[in-house]
Amino acid sequence: MTPPEPRIVPVGLGARAYEVVIGQGVLDEAGRRLLPFLKNRRVAVVSDETVWALHGARLTAILDRSGIDVAPVIVPPGEQTKSFEGLADVSDRLLALELDRGDLVVAFGGGVVGDLAGFAAAIYKRGIDFVQIPTTLLAQVDSSVGGKTAIDTPRGKNLVGAFHQPRLVLADLDVLDTLPDREMRAGYAEIIKYGFLGDVGFFEWLEAHGRAVLAREPAALTHAVARSVEMKAEIVAEDEKEQGRRALLNLGHTFGHALEAETGYGEALLHGEAVAAGMALAYRFSATQGTCEARDAVRAQAAIAAAGLPTRLADVPGAPFAAERLVRHMAQDKKAEGGRLTFILARGLGEAYVARDVPAYQVRDFLLAEGAKA
Ligand code: NAD
Ligand code: GLY
Repeated sequence: MTPPEPRIVPVGLGARAYEVVIGQGVLDEAGRRLLPFLKNRRVAVVSDETVWALHGARLTAILDRSGIDVAPVIVPPGEQTKSFEGLADVSDRLLALELDRGDLVVAFGGGVVGDLAGFAAAIYKRGIDFVQIPTTLLAQVDSSVGGKTAIDTPRGKNLVGAFHQPRLVLADLDVLDTLPDREMRAGYAEIIKYGFLGDVGFFEWLEAHGRAVLAREPAALTHAVARSVEMKAEIVAEDEKEQGRRALLNLGHTFGHALEAETGYGEALLHGEAVAAGMALAYRFSATQGTCEARDAVRAQAAIAAAGLPTRLADVPGAPFAAERLVRHMAQDKKAEGGRLTFILARGLGEAYVARDVPAYQVRDFLLAEGAKA
């Protein structure tokens, strides 16, 4: 059966506008869709070993049919690749390929590959174009759109990076067939985030259809990815450099980053899982602050838990954590200003806001009540 026409979501950034193409079999059209961006019929494809082993031959064959040569730049999978060492390695391999500014880098993988390849493209000879072909649910609904690229340093996550928008994003839902269920759930956390932060109707749709999304039912998955990308595109077009509203996309991230820091940014707690626990904490914190109804926090938590995602500190491997250490991580977060803690809090389901100057003692007391150690 021929798959339905892809959904195309524009990201309205003037001269740097681009499209996100979402659907089944989108990869099959990669050659045709990349050609307008190519001066030379060759691309450097940055991918990780896992994705390349599963899907590299298919992408190479598809591009070959359009006469496009592929130079693979394959990196080890995992967050540790998003490092200065990983960046030096990718940059050196791009230089060895003698790419010039008319060439294109393709990021073919999850958020790690997208962030790393995007940053390498941002600084390669002061900037070269790149295209995102995201292969995880998280990358399709979040990291491939919006132009944030970065690496981690020993002092924290995403601390060195650049805004560098892709020229095109191709999100093929069929590629998700090989994605482990745990990674699907982690990506789903970022989907539900869009409902929480700005669209209660979408949140209610997810309450009813979340199971179908996680089961990769094509119609449900297409709607969930497309609605998420629409919301992200709209926010990015309004506030590309995160001077205001874009910060709402960090719902759950202040608590989440602290948990990722405590668990070592690895397999123990995936980024999406940290965001899930962080969003549940943000809703309960909002309820204790009186900004949102307790029943909304309960409903938010139930929706996260229904997807098999963590909602409590005790759900996170390595718990109990010391409240003081978590607060210290939060103070180092990029969103912290002058030592004050910044959170994205909720007014209800479908409505989030930026809370600056949250006193550390209130967060510490809340974490202690949530089961953190003194
Ligand atoms: P990831 O890139 O590490 O991918 C997760 C795992 O899935 C990896 O082992 C990968 O090899 C494997 N994989 C990828 N696609 C697959 C497929 N189709 N089939 C089978 N296995 C596959 O992780 P992620 O969750 O995609 O991304 C997390 C990263 O994204 C973090 O570094 C986070 O900071 C970053 N991020 C960036 C933004 C942004 O706006 N730039 C937003 C959110 C997250
Ligand atoms: N993932 C947060 C952002 O893109 O702003």
